[in-house]
Amino acid sequence: MSHKILIINGSPRRNGNTSIAVHWVQEGANSKGATVDILNLTSMKNVGNGCIGCRRCQNSDEYRCFINDDISQAVYAMTDYDVIVFAMPLYFGTVPAQMKSFMDRMYSHIKINNGHMANPKFENKAFVIIATTGAENSNGLPLLEEYMKDFALEFKTRLYSFVIPSCNADRNVLLEKIDVREQAEYFGEKLANI
Ligand SMILES: Cc1cc2nc3c(=O)[nH]c(=O)nc-3n(C[C@H](O)[C@H](O)[C@H](O)COP(=O)(O)O)c2cc1C
Repeated sequence: MSHKILIINGSPRRNGNTSIAVHWVQEGANSKGATVDILNLTSMKNVGNGCIGCRRCQNSDEYRCFINDDISQAVYAMTDYDVIVFAMPLYFGTVPAQMKSFMDRMYSHIKINNGHMANPKFENKAFVIIATTGAENSNGLPLLEEYMKDFALEFKTRLYSFVIPSCNADRNVLLEKIDVREQAEYFGEKLANI
């Protein structure tokens, strides 16, 4: 059976390169029967509100974040999916603030008690990075990949990545790259049954 996929789009630019990549990957995944939901962080209220370190989540058997906003609900509901995609532009070699705020709220899915125990619902799930970068080569990417590797390790999930380099401020440049579109769609097809 094809997977249920959540794509979290953390680009502050609503219709930028990352959104194009997300759309292409979604098309590929849909073509193989996967269900894809997209969460655009920029259209959510309070996206800038990161974890406040209150640790009330540590007393919740339901792995809930107690900040009363829509990010908490989205973080709670993410265990409904088989594949969770973190799509983002590379910012100074790492995760943009909006995405980082969201990811920090996922602390609610971890219990800190003589070590870190993730919500068992994450077992067998896959985390995926989609990154668009300005650089032509992999400059700065190792930092992002190292960070995401550690993050996935916390949740004991597998990690896959798809990177689109040479993306500048003009989205039309990417739109004309037919070969990149094909690669992105193919990656989406693979995600459907990863
Ligand atoms: C604040 C900022 C920091 C950036 N830092 C990097 C970087 O460290 N390395 C890189 O290759 N590109 C960097 N870029 C370029 C973006 O990652 C790239 O253009 C990306 O495709 C933008 O995605 P978007 O159109 O979805 O916003 C940066 C862009 C901005 C605005």
